[in-house]
Amino acid sequence: IADDGYRLWQRYDFVQDQAKRQAYLANLTGLVIEGNSPTLTVARQELVTGLAGLLGKPLRLTSLNTAGVLILGTPQNTSVIKNLNLAVKLTALGPEGFLILSAQVQGKKATVITANSDVGVLYGTFHFLKLLQTNQDITQLNISSAPKIQRRILNHWDNLDRTVERGYAGFSIWDWHKLPDYIDQRYIDYARANASIGINGTVLTNVNANALILTPQYLVKVKALADAFRPYGLKVYLTARFSAPVEMGGLKTADPLDAQVKTWWKNKAAEIYSYVPDFGGFLVKANSEGQPGPQNYGRSHADGANMLADAVAEKGGIVMWRAFVYDNKVPDDRAKQAYTEFKPLDGQFRKNVLVQVKNGPIDFQPREPFHPLFGAMPQTPLMMEFQITQEYLGQATNLVYQAPLYKETLDADTHVKGAGSTVAKVVDGSLHQYELTGMAGVANIGNDRNWTGHLFGQANWYCFGRLAWDHTLSSEKIADEWLRMTFTNEATFLNPINKMMRQSRETLVNYMTPLGLHHIMGYSHHYGPGPWIKDKQRADWTSVYYHKASPEGIGFDRTVTGSNALAQYAPGVQQQFGKPATCPEEFLLWFHHVKWDYKVKSGRSLWDELCQRYYRGAAEVGQMRQTWQAAQAYVDAERFNHVKMLLLIQEKEARWWRDACVLYFQTFAQRPIPAGLEKPS
Ligand code: GCU
Repeated sequence: IADDGYRLWQRYDFVQDQAKRQAYLANLTGLVIEGNSPTLTVARQELVTGLAGLLGKPLRLTSLNTAGVLILGTPQNTSVIKNLNLAVKLTALGPEGFLILSAQVQGKKATVITANSDVGVLYGTFHFLKLLQTNQDITQLNISSAPKIQRRILNHWDNLDRTVERGYAGFSIWDWHKLPDYIDQRYIDYARANASIGINGTVLTNVNANALILTPQYLVKVKALADAFRPYGLKVYLTARFSAPVEMGGLKTADPLDAQVKTWWKNKAAEIYSYVPDFGGFLVKANSEGQPGPQNYGRSHADGANMLADAVAEKGGIVMWRAFVYDNKVPDDRAKQAYTEFKPLDGQFRKNVLVQVKNGPIDFQPREPFHPLFGAMPQTPLMMEFQITQEYLGQATNLVYQAPLYKETLDADTHVKGAGSTVAKVVDGSLHQYELTGMAGVANIGNDRNWTGHLFGQANWYCFGRLAWDHTLSSEKIADEWLRMTFTNEATFLNPINKMMRQSRETLVNYMTPLGLHHIMGYSHHYGPGPWIKDKQRADWTSVYYHKASPEGIGFDRTVTGSNALAQYAPGVQQQFGKPATCPEEFLLWFHHVKWDYKVKSGRSLWDELCQRYYRGAAEVGQMRQTWQAAQAYVDAERFNHVKMLLLIQEKEARWWRDACVLYFQTFAQRPIPAGLEKPS
């Protein structure tokens, strides 16, 4: 049967295991739902559609007289739930958490999905459906779950002409031309998918967008999207171009301390709220890569962020001010600029500002150490920014499961309050008692039938949402859920494919940027190898700036003898990363310039190790192809062939990376490729 992947992980295919299906049917004799809010209505619809698919039988609304009913609601809108006295348990779960319980209700066995709010019930509903999709037992349920992070947000880098910056899955799904009157079913399916993994916000427009989105002509379209998303608990945010008061408002300045500018933004915010009463707020890229910002007027990032924060504060809006800044006129190591500019501003931001920090100090590389700002701003809530779209990770032709990358950053130890001060604890607010917390993911979604270009890109959307909800989940567990829902519950399929997914990121690092190498991709498009790139206007637009290969050795000295970017980390980290011998090998060339003959942990010379890694990476893609081939019996032909063809491309690209990098670096190393490795093809 042909299948294009449109249904994502929400396929709700018939449960093949008959015993399991019978058990589900016995525990799902009917549905009791008293509330009728838009959110509970979509929860009911989801259950009805989902269970009809899974069990082959519709779930009917019923009364409480039957055993085995499913009861959905909050204590406020459902009296039987109120009588269960769950107040203590529920209080601990906050506004979005949920409970799923097997309980005795009026003397009869029932399953209860409840929460403090309707959206919590919706999240519980999706979780319950997942239990069936992944063939779990549902007779003894006692599940409680609450998000560890408040704002779990997708960032769309979508332009109003529907091109997507760093988008590899077609054009933008926002059809501005047909909005506001035409509500594409895709918008609803998008909201359903997000709600199913707990994503509760979406920034519709590119961080580099122009100001047009803030005009009434577009705001009416934004309103249409917000209305479609609202039942799913998905809030809309917009990017705010800092110079909008000049470009649209006819003012002479966008100086954040200018009274007219402040008034202009206050009025603009009020206008937005008149269309979208629960508008989430603004995401801002300022004074970075040529974008306008407060520094144009001699003001600081805090001045700019606070002015916008004041404009949205009254209605509960927030400002997500990006720390991704760099600039031609700053000659210092690019890895240092964000810390240099932001650290001194700690404590100066309004309460409704989050500073949004990329996971690493450069730019979404296959591997980066955690960003030194994490842990360095105890008085300013820092929001994590991950990139889901694979700008530097082979884009949409490479299978790279990113949960291990996200986890590696979240689990990294900042040491700012002693050992165990992980980045996750900074971001979830527990280390510095932040009142606001958030995590953003730059979306990989486009209008391709399968949403993400590569079918396995769906797993990255999925794992971003799951980790934003609960960063303690393992990569393996998340992959297991996704695979079961997307493909099958067969163990002979799940085990090897799960393993392949978990290995895939390390494989990519090996064939692209092993041992701490970074930013040696093709110029500007960032696809394919380009370690030889030089002679651009700016040093940090070249690859040679980052790898610094010479006849002596290779790597970027970021210790005290070099750029000293290392000094931006806490002493505990400096001690570890400061010497080649103690620096984790995966960051060796990120922090150190080492000689070609330097002995690494394997006992090989650096040159030999580099070659080994490139060859291993490329060989592993060959193994991925075999693993996938062996899974053919479990996957429909269309999705199977889609992945198969992409893996073939990936293998070619991995070899291209290997050969390009090994041969290029060899011109400096002047050493042979170690015996036993095959010749570059
Ligand atoms: C990267 C990316 C840009 C993007 C920028 C950002 O540099 O290549 O396209 O605009 O990140 O995050 O702002």
